[in-house]
Amino acid sequence: MSNLITKTTELAMSVTLTYIRQGDIVIDATCGTGQDTVMLARAVGSEGSVYAFDIQKKAMLLTEERLRKHGFSNVHFIMKSFSSMSEHIPENSASAVVFNLGYLPGGDHSITTTAETTLEGLACALRTIRAGGIVTVVLYDGHEEGAAEKKAVLEWARELDQRKYHAAFVSLINQDNDPPEILWVTRKH
Ligand SMILES: C[S@@+](CC[C@H](N)C(=O)[O-])C[C@H]1O[C@@H](n2cnc3c(N)ncnc32)[C@H](O)[C@@H]1O
Repeated sequence: MSNLITKTTELAMSVTLTYIRQGDIVIDATCGTGQDTVMLARAVGSEGSVYAFDIQKKAMLLTEERLRKHGFSNVHFIMKSFSSMSEHIPENSASAVVFNLGYLPGGDHSITTTAETTLEGLACALRTIRAGGIVTVVLYDGHEEGAAEKKAVLEWARELDQRKYHAAFVSLINQDNDPPEILWVTRKH
């Protein structure tokens, strides 16, 4: 088993996968290059469904290609903002919604998630997860928009009703180069 604390993206997904069963509905809110999508597609299996959002055609093509290589056909693509999630997926239906914020690796850095759209997406995600479900957010505060986004997201999470949600935040506090950080929100009932 790899040393999960050194790689927060893997830690984020490892915890998320413990909330997912075969046959579930899950959402990749920012499919990007498709790495998370493949792991989610494997976790839900052929009886389940992944809904993959991204606003860039390039991300859709990269993700489609990666899924094809791995032989998965249980992913529905929605080339729209994650803030439209509630228009496409019923409330209380998903076991997990995964956000990997920021810009497409190797892509145009000006096409990035923003504090405003991310807060809209998170509100949708809380409506979309079922009781016992999880919202996972990987944050990068090493760029200007990312720092503002992190501040807004953490303010939002701190205010969540503790009777309904648990929110946990993980940060590698002694590492250079702003490694990604993780927010998990789980819904109790
Ligand atoms: C860090 S990348 C995601 C990486 C991806 N999870 C992977 O495994 O490769 C962030 C992605 O968010 C997308 N994005 C930005 N704003 C968005 C929005 N409002 N809705 C959905 N996707 C968005 C970008 O196009 C980019 O592909």
